[in-house]
Amino acid sequence: MIKLGFLGSGRGSNFQAIYKNILNGTLQAEAVVVISNKQSKMLEISEEHGLSSVFIDPKGFSSKEEFDAELVKRLESHGVDLVILAGYMKILTPVFINAFPNRILNIHPSLLPSFKGLHPQKQALDAGVKFAGCTVHYVTLELDSGPIIMQEVVPVLPDDNEDSLSKRILEKEHIIYTEAIKIVAGKYN
Ligand code: GAR
Repeated sequence: MIKLGFLGSGRGSNFQAIYKNILNGTLQAEAVVVISNKQSKMLEISEEHGLSSVFIDPKGFSSKEEFDAELVKRLESHGVDLVILAGYMKILTPVFINAFPNRILNIHPSLLPSFKGLHPQKQALDAGVKFAGCTVHYVTLELDSGPIIMQEVVPVLPDDNEDSLSKRILEKEHIIYTEAIKIVAGKYN
C-alpha cells in the first residue's frame, strides 16, 4: 500500500478529509507520518488518530535548506512514497523538491495557473472572475506551477467575500484531493 507523508502548517482540514477516506476505505493508502512547521491544529488531529506526528521548529535551523534536509530525513525514515502538502505555507527549497521527484502533491485554492501565491481567493475576487476553484498539482521548483492532476470549479457569487468564497472552494478541495491521490497512487501500484 502506498505510504503517504503529510506536511501542513495550520487547520488541517484537507489532511482530515483525506485521512477520513483512508479510514473508510475510499483511499487505499497508509498515512505514515504527519509533519508541521507549527504547533498546528493539524498535528492535534493526527495525534488524536494516533499517527506519528512531528513538529519541527524552523528556528532550530541555520538555513531553509538545512530545515528541508531534516524534513527529507524524517519522511524517508518513515518510508514515505508520496508527500502530500496540505496547507503547508512554507516555500520548499530544491533540497526537498529534488529528493522526491514527481512524488510531491499540493492543493491550491485557485484555478491554476491563475492566482498563484498568497490569498488566491482574494486575488480571484479582486480580478472579478465569475468562476474560481481549486487545483491539485505536482510540486516542481517553480511555485504553484507543476503539472495539474485535477481541478474543480465553483461559481463566484455577487455578494461573496474572501471568507464565503474560501469556504465554497474548500468543500471541493476536500473531495478532489483524495481523487487526485488515487490517480497518482494508481501509478505506483
Ligand atoms: C487550503 O485552502 C489549501 O488549499 C491552502 O491552504 C488551506 C489549508 O487548509 N493552501 C495553499 O494556499 C497553498 N498555497 P487546511 O489546513 O484546512 O487544509
